[in-house]
Amino acid sequence: MMQPARIAPSILAADFAHLADDVAKVEPYVELLHIDVMDGHFAPNISLGIPVIASLRKATSLFFDCHMMTTNAHVYFGSLRSAGADLVTVHIEAYPDPTRAADQARDAGLAFGLALNPATPFEAVEPFVELADLVLVMSVEPGFGGQSFTYSALTKVEAARKVIDSRGISTDIEIDGGITTDTARAARDAGVDVFVAGTSVFRTPDPVAAVKALRASVE
Ligand code: DX5
Ligand code: ZN
Repeated sequence: MMQPARIAPSILAADFAHLADDVAKVEPYVELLHIDVMDGHFAPNISLGIPVIASLRKATSLFFDCHMMTTNAHVYFGSLRSAGADLVTVHIEAYPDPTRAADQARDAGLAFGLALNPATPFEAVEPFVELADLVLVMSVEPGFGGQSFTYSALTKVEAARKVIDSRGISTDIEIDGGITTDTARAARDAGVDVFVAGTSVFRTPDPVAAVKALRASVE
């Protein structure tokens, strides 16, 4: 069953010199904080790492949804947990059989998510959905904020919704990339529970108003 909509601002679009301030602004209005970790290998960019997560943990009590766009995320599960991460999402392209990574995440005290790129069919994660608290459908290529929404991601969301509902499990469906009030609405209709939004929240004059508008669009 579809869960209440949750909003996860992506700090990739925030001002890294004023991260705590940017997060504090939206904290009362959102359920999660989306943190994009990139290693320059899996994704063609380098974003932030464990020291930033640890510093941010002192500044907020929000749930940390860590999106690992890295080839070897499992090596860092213990450090991520110690830094304050709550959930780690790894990519199916990096972990074609994520069974062991899921166990390692749980052993480290982390919730576990599985992400898939725009080019990856839902079938790649279908056998492993039970292992995950969350399935993250990428609606842009990993690496950068500010890209346009890929509508074919909605077909994947619909497939995920069908499988999750037919199996009677409570895995969340998260969408990431190009989320605006319009694309969020379309994604909600396809079955999304968690909405990641970077540019449409932090690159606006009023991030709180932006979060409120996103929520209104999906309720
Ligand atoms: C892209 C990241 C996204 C990104 C989304 O690699 O996974 O989380 O921050 O940014 P917007 O919302 O600007 O598309
Ligand atoms: Zn992300």
